[in-house]
Amino acid sequence: MSTPSSDLTSAAAASFTATYGVAPDGVWSAPGRVNLIGEHVDYNGGLCLPMAIPQRTHAAMRQRDDRMLRVISGDSGVEQVALDDIAPGNPKNWVAYVAGVFWALEQAGHAVAGADIALTSDVPSGAGLSSSAALEASVALAIDDLCGLGLGHDDAGRRALATACQRAENEVVGAPTGGMDQAASLRGRAGHALELDCRTMDVSHVPFEQELLIIDTRAHHALVDGQYAARREQCEAAARDLGVALLADVSPDGLDETLEAVTDPVARRRAHHVVTEIERVKESAQLLRDGDPIDLDALGALFTASHVSLRDDFEVSCAELDVAVDAAVAAGAHGARMTGGGFGGSAIALVGRGGSGAVVSAVRRAYQQQGWKRPRTFRVTAGAGAGRDKTTL
Ligand code: GLA
Repeated sequence: MSTPSSDLTSAAAASFTATYGVAPDGVWSAPGRVNLIGEHVDYNGGLCLPMAIPQRTHAAMRQRDDRMLRVISGDSGVEQVALDDIAPGNPKNWVAYVAGVFWALEQAGHAVAGADIALTSDVPSGAGLSSSAALEASVALAIDDLCGLGLGHDDAGRRALATACQRAENEVVGAPTGGMDQAASLRGRAGHALELDCRTMDVSHVPFEQELLIIDTRAHHALVDGQYAARREQCEAAARDLGVALLADVSPDGLDETLEAVTDPVARRRAHHVVTEIERVKESAQLLRDGDPIDLDALGALFTASHVSLRDDFEVSCAELDVAVDAAVAAGAHGARMTGGGFGGSAIALVGRGGSGAVVSAVRRAYQQQGWKRPRTFRVTAGAGAGRDKTTL
């Protein structure tokens, strides 16, 4: 279902010219992501294993010589905000994801100018595939290039851009997310998953050519609605009881006994998920490294165990995700799990060669039986991280 990238590049440039009456300086784009495994561990300092997907957000941009920011996306109409008016909580709509990046880069001491921007995207929004990180990262890279910040050329610079994008989302948008999504979008590499240590934000690129099936449940997904923040607080409460700074500091050995120190049984279950999930990430990354071919049964079993833990211990799944995962596994997937923040959004299924047809039919049938709208399904392999699009401008 990804639109050929060059079409969306041209569409962004055309929208820019039609809106602002001049050609943009260039077009930059950044991908959404799926997380193979390691969910709700980033803000606990753990390990996760996301990959960029082929679906991307494209930002056509032209630098201005004042401090005004104007943005258009699809038929949104032109939105505008002065750079000096951007602050935590302002603007209040989707433009905050764009404006927040300008704000965060300025806060980090970079000189940025105003800009006009036109956006196109085939990253579905609300699907748990990080459309917000794709938007932030495409804009960050455009600013980097046009304002000559020099950060986009190497991984160290991209780490700084990812930090700015996360800050935009945390402080200007007000969503207390981890940092996994921005890292995947800016630091991802085609044909590779990104093993990300969220304590240090160090990455290692692990080859992963395997195709994945994404099942977008089309059930509501929103990170700003309190549940995500509540999970974070429960993890922090558990860490306090355990006397550690981060749950990633807890050893998996003798875990049940260790967790007796956590007084609230809900926080205890949250911590159980985080500590066991980090172990599953380690095992998964090892399976990818051992590869050639990857032991898909073993990897799939880790995916499904992760889902069960997110469903039962972390309680961020929902009926639509559970039905998708169960139907996929029953129809022969090696394993399946929800991906991203949860409460709706997408599941991924690890399907062997030629096996996706049966899995898609089974999931559709199960949804029909429940009387739910048909899920969207598409197959992906690991795509490239953010970059400047080739244009004939
Ligand atoms: C969302 C957040 C990430 C991460 C995941 C859960 O995608 O943006 O930072 O916490 O949820 O793993």
